[in-house]
Amino acid sequence: MTQIQHYLQFTDLTADDYAWLFERAAVIKRKFKAYEKYHPLADRTLAMIFEKASTRTRVSFEAGMYQLGGSVVHLTTGDSQLGRAEPIEDSARVISRMVDLVMIRTFGQDKIESFAAHSRVPVINGLTNEFHPCQILADIFTYIEHRGSIQGKTVAWVGDGNNMANTWLQAADLLGFKVHVSTPSGYEVDQDVAGVRSADSYRVFRDPMDACRGADLVTTDVWTSMGFEAENEERRKAFAEWCVDEDMMRVAKPDALFMHCLPAHRGEEVQAEVIDGPQSVVWDEAENRMHVQKALMEYLLLGRVKG
Ligand code: CP
Ligand code: NVA
Repeated sequence: MTQIQHYLQFTDLTADDYAWLFERAAVIKRKFKAYEKYHPLADRTLAMIFEKASTRTRVSFEAGMYQLGGSVVHLTTGDSQLGRAEPIEDSARVISRMVDLVMIRTFGQDKIESFAAHSRVPVINGLTNEFHPCQILADIFTYIEHRGSIQGKTVAWVGDGNNMANTWLQAADLLGFKVHVSTPSGYEVDQDVAGVRSADSYRVFRDPMDACRGADLVTTDVWTSMGFEAENEERRKAFAEWCVDEDMMRVAKPDALFMHCLPAHRGEEVQAEVIDGPQSVVWDEAENRMHVQKALMEYLLLGRVKG
């Protein structure tokens, strides 16, 4: 049996796959903007399983799949047997006999790994506690659209050492750029989780200003990720100095971009002047989720399509 290509973390694809995917996403985006009908996934079905809330991931996958001619099934913990303790392995066996592709947003990475191990069809990570590969795919595509290749550039990560930070580290390692990370103590990125091969691709700074100095891209995320709500108060105190402000943007390169995967909390992890300011590309970043994921779904089901 040929091995199924899943997309569970950023390292599941190669640098060459990404080069292809970024070009393909641009083609697919152009088709969309030109109102060109493009239905390579006609008669294919995507199951989307959400164990956590979502706006962008749901809309981008659902709209994207319809635009490619396919259809979607939306499941949550609350309205499926997943919430009544049906084993994840059994769910995978059943669901993957009926659909062509599965997207899952869940808690532990181990859960999506178990699902994939028992699935007959490709599985895509729509966010776990550890990783958010589709978001970084969109972020790098957005960087390329605005500034060209990300290779050799510096990304400043300000805030929590979370799923987004881990995935940035993986991407830097694979695609040849650097991440300057500044987190409060106790919230550092875990190099083992990210599985980075080269310490050259990231540097840790205590002061977020130092992480931002000379950066080509400054990015952050919520102080409290989904699943960690019980720590909210404690985190608000610990993260108070990790708010991306105009001073941080001032020490970055003059043409530096600002990104945030959203949802954002103005006045917490980012000042309104930054996220709503001229260097922010957050709306392009959000829209691009759909274009890159269309390219990804096409790739996982049909390979390197031309035209
Ligand atoms: N950025 C992102 O994944 O957003 P949602 O939580 O709204 O899907
Ligand atoms: N780190 C955030 C990302 C939300 C899109 C979370 O996991 O909640």
